Amino acid sequence: MKHLLKMLDLSREDIIDILNFADQLKYELKNGIKHDILAGKSLGMIFQKASTRTRVSFEVGMYQLGGQALFLSNRDLQIGRGEPIEDTARVLSRYLDGIMIRTFDQSEVETLAEVGSIPVINGLTDFSHPCQVLADLMTIREIKGTLQGLKMCFVGDGNNMMNSLIVGGLKVGMSVSVACPQGYEPDASVIEFASGTEEFNMLRDPMTAVKDADVVITDVWASMGQEQEQAERQQAFKGYQINDELMENAASDAIVLHCLPAHRGEEITASVFEKHASSIFEEAENRLHAQKAVMAKLMR
Ligand code: CP
Ligand code: NVA
Repeated sequence: MKHLLKMLDLSREDIIDILNFADQLKYELKNGIKHDILAGKSLGMIFQKASTRTRVSFEVGMYQLGGQALFLSNRDLQIGRGEPIEDTARVLSRYLDGIMIRTFDQSEVETLAEVGSIPVINGLTDFSHPCQVLADLMTIREIKGTLQGLKMCFVGDGNNMMNSLIVGGLKVGMSVSVACPQGYEPDASVIEFASGTEEFNMLRDPMTAVKDADVVITDVWASMGQEQEQAERQQAFKGYQINDELMENAASDAIVLHCLPAHRGEEITASVFEKHASSIFEEAENRLHAQKAVMAKLMR
């Protein structure tokens, strides 16, 4: 594994390996055991979209491993003024030991990896959010004790989170059902990957999709870059809310995850959010541990 670009690229072993190391790093951090695995190394973090969790967890994670992180906003970089991603890749490869990038088009991340000579980590594109899904799988395993055989249900938009959860969930032996309105399905490449297995179900009806689910997940109806579609999406996603009534149909000990930020009253009610706040904020914390494991694996 040279980069972390999308869940489709990872094997089951890659994922389990990262989760095991993430668990170890979490335990060690809580017990005061320090590491300098990445001493002297620098990670550049390119942000073309906003972020709270990704920015802070990568920056702190790099520091905790003995290295440093540079926050590079496209408002300040020459990329923002049209310098090609190919040139940026070749320049940054000469200074840095790794790049994390949050951007729109998946092809920018792929190009960065192809043209540059250092590990590239996808910190979210319109297509994929692998760091979040690794943290989600870590959280599920931590709470449920296993991944294999559990049922995951994602209700909402066929966005970066749905794309990545379908692939990640299936790869670790979960069954995955999704409910989305017509016209908001996951990416064709993800459907193609998933349709090879009976463990995948794509439905319109959230009530049916969530039946006996062990893990119920949602995300915003309008992702970053889709702000102008907010009103239209609010109509399209009516009925795709995680609320108490829907949760009645999930397993009685089901957990709820949300990558955050959450819009209470839209994709999730305040009631469900608060009942499941402990798993949701554990999930947010696990970004730190999972990404430290990824950085150590790629940049050591
Ligand atoms: N979940 C997530 O990626 O959060 P940020 O957008 O705050 O980084
Ligand atoms: N789907 C959301 C995830 C935010 C972390 C977005 O892309 O804006």
